[in-house]
Amino acid sequence: MRIIIINGPNLNLLGRREPGIYGSATMEDYLEKLYLKYPEVKFDYYQSNVEGELVNKIHEVGFTYDGIVINAGAYTHTSIAIADAVKGVDTPCIEVHISNVAKREDFRHITYLGPVCVGTIAGFGMDSYRLGVEALLNIQTQ
Ligand code: DQA
Repeated sequence: MRIIIINGPNLNLLGRREPGIYGSATMEDYLEKLYLKYPEVKFDYYQSNVEGELVNKIHEVGFTYDGIVINAGAYTHTSIAIADAVKGVDTPCIEVHISNVAKREDFRHITYLGPVCVGTIAGFGMDSYRLGVEALLNIQTQ
């Protein structure tokens, strides 16, 4: 079972960026714990602030990996290119958000990724990523 977690723009600042919304854990610390929980899963992690690089990564993994957990950050609300990439590959994709985007500004209620992903998980803090992994594991065993 091979899963990649993909983070979009500004998520490299987790731990320092608006801790009242996104918490004070770094992604690296969080991933260390997550990987220990799922020894059977081969994980990869990729982060980029650049839209085209996210598209390229989705193409690279999207025909061989078993699942993608993606937090596209602000590109969620703007990027048809990332949505088209997810739509164009075979690997199932789960959209995740740390914050509950439905409770925030109106522009965060729009998601181009939602309709092309298997489902969306939002509002559970960093645990949203683990819930995304669980969702993928459940799809694989259904
Ligand atoms: C986010 C929510 C987005 O609206 C925002 O632009 C982010 C993070 C989240 O994880 O809650 O960068 O995707």
